[in-house]
Amino acid sequence: MKHLIDPTDLSKNELEEIIDLALDIIDNRQKYSEVCKGKKLATLFYEPSTRTRLSFTAAMMELGGNVLGFSDAKNSSVSKGETCADTTKVINCFADIIAMRHFEEGAATVSAMNSNIPVINAGDGSHSHPTQTLTDLLTIKREIGRFDNITIGFCGDLKFGRTVHSLIKALSMYSGVKVILIAPEQLRLPDYMKEEVCDRYGVEYREVDTMEEVMGDLDVLYMTRVQKERFFDEDEYDRVKDFFILDAEKLKLARPEMRILHPLPRVNEISTDVDADPRAAYFRQVENGKFVRMALIAKLLEWAKDPSKTTKLVPDDAVRGKFICRNKRCISNMETGVESLFRPAHDNSGGYRCVYCESKPK
Ligand code: NCD
Repeated sequence: MKHLIDPTDLSKNELEEIIDLALDIIDNRQKYSEVCKGKKLATLFYEPSTRTRLSFTAAMMELGGNVLGFSDAKNSSVSKGETCADTTKVINCFADIIAMRHFEEGAATVSAMNSNIPVINAGDGSHSHPTQTLTDLLTIKREIGRFDNITIGFCGDLKFGRTVHSLIKALSMYSGVKVILIAPEQLRLPDYMKEEVCDRYGVEYREVDTMEEVMGDLDVLYMTRVQKERFFDEDEYDRVKDFFILDAEKLKLARPEMRILHPLPRVNEISTDVDADPRAAYFRQVENGKFVRMALIAKLLEWAKDPSKTTKLVPDDAVRGKFICRNKRCISNMETGVESLFRPAHDNSGGYRCVYCESKPK
């Protein structure tokens, strides 16, 4: 079964097939209005969402399919203590495809391990958010026209921002990508991203202290919100929340062709005086999210019929039951019955990484 848990589950070809299909959907909406007739999408949202859940819903409706699910885990059997694995087995009896958002890192992986229908990760904790990445890529394609040879600045919460992690992973498939990391010391990109993604795939990156110093070099400025809900300590959040704010004055330093992306929701990191600037692409980005999710749902349902299309959930060299994950938010530490699974690190350190969340063992 083909799932989408992480952007790396898609080959470059598959990824481009989805983007190309989204572009065709944009030009020929009517052609796709019955593609999912008789099919059901289950949206299982254990964490707040506006855009992602509603764009999945709108996408399935535009494909002629139906949607069921929950948007608050309090209204589901999770509040009675049901595990992600059991909920998935139950939903398999009702739906043809699942989109899951969860605060536990690795939840979508566990769901996919227990599913005979495709599972889409709609965000797992601060780990990964591959459908936002497809949205971002479609936006870059439409606004900039290419993925190779782009210089992209990521600004804000690069530690907890799952959309940042997933987009860098996807861009690592392209050549000549330069990544500029603009974040306070406390919110820098996690080590696994630098070592296992940037270093491994030759993505050139550098860390800077201000957006002003790089603004003129950028093709894309990817702004993010500081992820308040991931902080264990509120004072720490208060210290970093106002670090980087993009306003019309700072934007004067940018080139006319630069584009500003933001997965949204925005808090205060982009001043509203930027919204009317043609370089502000974040509301156009939202609509791209619906088109690309239409393409993804259609493709995954098509691939589900093809036994050669599979997602490798557990690597062949995984080690079972030997280590404990150091990440408190990893599903292996939060739910019973989740087997400890680690794979050798991809950074020549001789270490291991958790299969669910990519953290190191304790
Ligand atoms: C993002 C998310 O949920 O990670 N939002 C979204 O899906 N569009 C970004 C965020 O919440 O800051």
